[in-house]
Amino acid sequence: MSNYHIKDLEEYYKVYRKSVREPESFWEEIAEEHFVWRKRWDKVLSWDFKSPEIKWFEGAKLNITENCIDRHLFTKGEKTAILFEPNDPKEAAEHITYNQLYKRVNQFANVLKSKGIGKGDRVCIYLPMIPELAISVLACARIGAIHSVVFAGFSATALSMRINDSDCKMVITSDGSYRGAKTLDLKGIVDEALEACSCVENVLVAKRIQSEILMKEGRDCWLQPLLDAASTECAPEIMDAEDPLFILYTSGSTGMPKGMVHTTGGYMVYTAYTFKNVFNYKEEDVYWCTADIGWITGHSYIVYGPLANGATTVMFEGVPSYPDCGRFWEVVEKHKVTQFYTAPTVIRSLAKEKLDFVNAYDLSSLKVLGSVGEPINEEAWHWYNDNIGKKQSPIVDTWWQTETGGIMLSPIPYVTPTIPTFATLPLPGIQPALMDELGNEIEGKQVDGRLCFKYPWPSMARTIWGNHQRYKETYFSTYENMYFTGDGALRDTVGYYRITGRVDDVIIVSGHNLGTAPIEDAINEHPAVAESAIVGFEHDVKGNALYGYVTLKETGESRMHDNLRKEINQMITEHIGPIAKLDKIQFTGGLPKTRSGKIMRRILRKIAGKETSNLGDTSTLLNPEVVQEIMDNAL
Ligand code: PRX
Repeated sequence: MSNYHIKDLEEYYKVYRKSVREPESFWEEIAEEHFVWRKRWDKVLSWDFKSPEIKWFEGAKLNITENCIDRHLFTKGEKTAILFEPNDPKEAAEHITYNQLYKRVNQFANVLKSKGIGKGDRVCIYLPMIPELAISVLACARIGAIHSVVFAGFSATALSMRINDSDCKMVITSDGSYRGAKTLDLKGIVDEALEACSCVENVLVAKRIQSEILMKEGRDCWLQPLLDAASTECAPEIMDAEDPLFILYTSGSTGMPKGMVHTTGGYMVYTAYTFKNVFNYKEEDVYWCTADIGWITGHSYIVYGPLANGATTVMFEGVPSYPDCGRFWEVVEKHKVTQFYTAPTVIRSLAKEKLDFVNAYDLSSLKVLGSVGEPINEEAWHWYNDNIGKKQSPIVDTWWQTETGGIMLSPIPYVTPTIPTFATLPLPGIQPALMDELGNEIEGKQVDGRLCFKYPWPSMARTIWGNHQRYKETYFSTYENMYFTGDGALRDTVGYYRITGRVDDVIIVSGHNLGTAPIEDAINEHPAVAESAIVGFEHDVKGNALYGYVTLKETGESRMHDNLRKEINQMITEHIGPIAKLDKIQFTGGLPKTRSGKIMRRILRKIAGKETSNLGDTSTLLNPEVVQEIMDNAL
């Protein structure tokens, strides 16, 4: 069991040094001792950041669901694998054992096969947080189909773009979803999306809210009768370690969202290893990550990482404020949750509420608290530490990305001393570098720069679906022989890392990555709009919120502006989803531009952040006069 579970700081440094000195034998030992392979690899790693081409465990054969389900049946078949907690606290929770999960995944896999889905086919999953979501993900993996989960808060347009980009043959959805006191018509959104997709042959529909929906003959099928008729045995498709496991879209600073491709063997090894260490996972634990499986956090740390360790993983359908702001803590008490993993935006919103919501519940089962998705500010960190962890549960501030597949920088609980706002140290196998703008590595302590990684790790995305060139340009072209994250970071006197935020045009709002370009494109489709620019500004709950500067084709009367603001946000909701709506919209006579016509976002960012004392030199702009106008009318 060498190296698998780190117990103290001295051991961390020892293991870390080994992982850097002999990365291949380090990962090989872990892969050998903790997983089931149908065939051993011929080579642990081959890599080249120039092409770029990265292969882990080349030649190995496996099926990830054998590792996440089958192998646990002998020792813990009756243990709860997935603990489903519904939106409505009055509805009973569902405990799905490993035995039951095995049967349900196989039935689902057989249904997929009966609909003509096979190895390598893409299946889009657009479901709420109900058991069918995790089960359909695993069913795809069982037969070697590539799942592409789209968060069920995205609009029809966003969904159709993602379906078309990866040419999905099937969509799995439900008759609707619950969100607190509201319901959403997911099937209606799928129907609208599919008007623009010719690649989809079948739609499988799970029943959740019992709403009346239209079923298109020859295309749509209710899922349950098919599952009931399907066999509970389905032999796993034996995959190459480097066969794609899934595609997951993430926003870039420009253009179409990027379909990040994750492969099988390395992803499994890394997510399982990091789950075990970052959450100090022990056999009897009940682990809860509040993310949606529509995001990478849910893929890696609700489904694959926990199940590969034979853990009990909670799937929560609801929202933190329904029926009231004590819901999370009620669930912690009810299921005696031991690890609780959430996003800073959630912590900030709950910290605004009365402490009675927290104090009404017994949270003594908790032993590790996690944070992910955006920088956690000091105030939120202390609130979390004091009121939820009662100063007894270490907070793991986990830094990672859709592209990295797994957690990269994080304290190891009960091992690494924690400091508010610091993601602290790289996990074993991870080799960070800070770079300056000229492309030189910044060595030493107490420095800051752009966060890169100089050596591959097993769960890194291998490409962007259908666009390897974009993968190369986005991640491997800024600095030679480095993976560039797009984030800035500083390294303190002991070598701890603190993330300082994005250095590109991606803005993180409530933990969601939003590229500015697609939002601007959506706004610019409004017939009254000439041009727009989006920047982020600090927000006390969302972390960042969006500020839009919009120039109109004709300057209308200002009483029209409120209507226009609504229409613009409506446009964004339709094109992307409500998460991308703007908090502030300022109409301006022009946008500050360089002589080559590039919008000077730096200036707009400062005005949105009310930092107008130091705008820098604006005299070289094409239109310096607009700066004053924008400042005078800033919101
Ligand atoms: O800017 C970083 C921020 O979220 C980005 C990745 O977003 P996404 O691909 O959606 O994945 C989120 C969940 C892993 C990063 O480039 N980010 C993520 N975690 C942290 C963070 N920023 C600061 N601290 C974190 N712990």
